[in-house]
Amino acid sequence: MSVATQSPPKKARELTEDASFGKAYDARLLRRLFEYVRPHRGLFIWALISYPIASALHLVQPYIVKVAVDEHFIPKVSEGFGWLVIAFVSSIVFEFGARFGQTYLTQLLGQNATRDLRAQLFEKLQVVDVAYIERNPIGRLMTRVTNDVESLSEMFATGAVSIVGDIVTLVGIVIMMLVLDWKLTLYTFSLVPFLAALLLFFRRFARTAFRDVRREIARLNGFLNEAIAGMSLVQVFRQQAATMREFEEINTAHRDANIRSIRFDALTYAIVEGVGTIAIATVLLFGISGFEHGAIEVGVFVAFIDYVRRFFGPITELSTKYTVMQSAMASAERCFDLLDQVPSIESPKATAEPLPQRLERLHVEGVDFSYGKGQQVLHGLELEVHRGQTVAIVGPTGAGKSTIVKLLCRFYDPTQGQITLNGIDLRRFELNALRSRFAIVLQDPYLFDASIRENITLGREIDEARFKDATERTRAAYVANRLEDGFETKVGERGSRLSSGERQLIAFARALVGDPEVLILDEATSSVDPETEGLIQEGLRALLEGRTAVVIAHRLSTIRRADAIAVVAAGRVAELGPHETLLEADGLYRKLYELQFKRDLG
Ligand SMILES: Nc1ncnc2c1ncn2[C@@H]1O[C@H](COP(=O)(O)OP(=O)(O)OP(=O)(O)O)[C@@H](O)[C@H]1O
Ligand SMILES: [Mg+2]
Repeated sequence: MSVATQSPPKKARELTEDASFGKAYDARLLRRLFEYVRPHRGLFIWALISYPIASALHLVQPYIVKVAVDEHFIPKVSEGFGWLVIAFVSSIVFEFGARFGQTYLTQLLGQNATRDLRAQLFEKLQVVDVAYIERNPIGRLMTRVTNDVESLSEMFATGAVSIVGDIVTLVGIVIMMLVLDWKLTLYTFSLVPFLAALLLFFRRFARTAFRDVRREIARLNGFLNEAIAGMSLVQVFRQQAATMREFEEINTAHRDANIRSIRFDALTYAIVEGVGTIAIATVLLFGISGFEHGAIEVGVFVAFIDYVRRFFGPITELSTKYTVMQSAMASAERCFDLLDQVPSIESPKATAEPLPQRLERLHVEGVDFSYGKGQQVLHGLELEVHRGQTVAIVGPTGAGKSTIVKLLCRFYDPTQGQITLNGIDLRRFELNALRSRFAIVLQDPYLFDASIRENITLGREIDEARFKDATERTRAAYVANRLEDGFETKVGERGSRLSSGERQLIAFARALVGDPEVLILDEATSSVDPETEGLIQEGLRALLEGRTAVVIAHRLSTIRRADAIAVVAAGRVAELGPHETLLEADGLYRKLYELQFKRDLG
């Protein structure tokens, strides 16, 4: 085997989009995010109260020290000092409480709000068009519910939501200092404009670095996802070395992006520390010369040093929080984008037609269809099925057979024409009610990582007698009985522990157990061993007995049992009639028969 395998496709454009940044404050987005906070009003209010309390207590402490120094230590007055100690200790205790409340309540609020958002996103994913799911890579949709929601929760966790509160605290500190000694304040902060300019300058780079980190994480995840899922291909085509090289490249880029981001973090931290130290030195310098002239009180001096320390601490965090806010806003935008998806497959609620008691006729009337803006797949397709009839659809690959199935269960709607049930357009029935009358077996039956029983019932209430009857008739019981835990055996992701024939039998049971009025079956093309083939044929017979059915058939046995055969080619019904008539007509059906179906006779 020397077939060159393609390495997993690069999704650079999409990833860049996934790592994009928004404004740090976007009023429209914030207003919408607030909708998730609203149900947790109580928490929000308590969190809101705890912020100014913690800040005020934080601000008052240096002032108490100043009073202690100026009014007690220096004049050596002990009267009333006890009250100051009590005030100081209580301010520390209450600040502790307020800070605990602030962090705990904010995060609690964040966890509750993001839980609701996650639920809403998943709810949306369950009603959004199948077309939307098919169009978007699964990894990307998962990112909405996981990473994007996580980055919003980070906004609460890092306290970035309280950026405004932090700025208020900083302003409060400056005001306290100005009140104590405005001249000394100006000297102390003479370096701050310089610091601000420097931080603004670096923030640009930090932002790029931070975005690169996000992008590399997304790339790493995407690559791993595909590489692990396709590991058997990698191994069988011996592509380990090439895959490893690609992984190394991504891994290194990931490290480098992190290093760049760390460098800016370290630089910011060092600069802020440096400027803070210089500010304290300034206070010391001017303070000491101030004492000589008696122009400054010792208490003010002590309080100043404390305030300066408290000022520069949060500055380092501020730039980090700013970045967190930016990425949170971008994530919010993407989440809302998904939430704003309007499904085009709509279910009329109030104006819905009641479903007829008995489904007499299913009619595909002159249906045109194309996937999105793509090529037209169906051209004026006509097909009719009467109650109790089985219509088999055959045709070359890519003819549009599975597409008909998707239209019948309204995963898509026709671009032109209509599909009617007893003469009424499918679009006029309530979607869930309509689907409850149908059972669909898709070409590639999907099994969940659950037990066989769960995969058959799919959460529906099904009594044991019916379950037993359906699984025996479709031969799914035979599959289950061969396994160690019978119907309770877990089938693995996508049913990977079962053979494709066994998966089909389970899907038959899943369809039959609901006793549907109409069966829509897309036979799998994969061939199975003669024994399983025998089981499948028996299962199919049970499934189709006396039922209205549309079957995309690949087996001669299924085709021959059908009341009518529609040969679909290039999106049209080219021939229609029973087996013998079509054979005699010596057209496309005969060709298909000679090439494909005849071997079934052997
Ligand atoms: N989700 C999709 N988006 C865009 N084009 C699609 C999509 N699904 C199918 N097509 C295209 O529509 C055409 C008909 O596909 P369809 O799956 O209906 O064929 P089919 O008759 O079922 O073939 P097969 O016998 O191989 O199952 C094909 O050309 C295919 O490329
Ligand atoms: Mg198909």
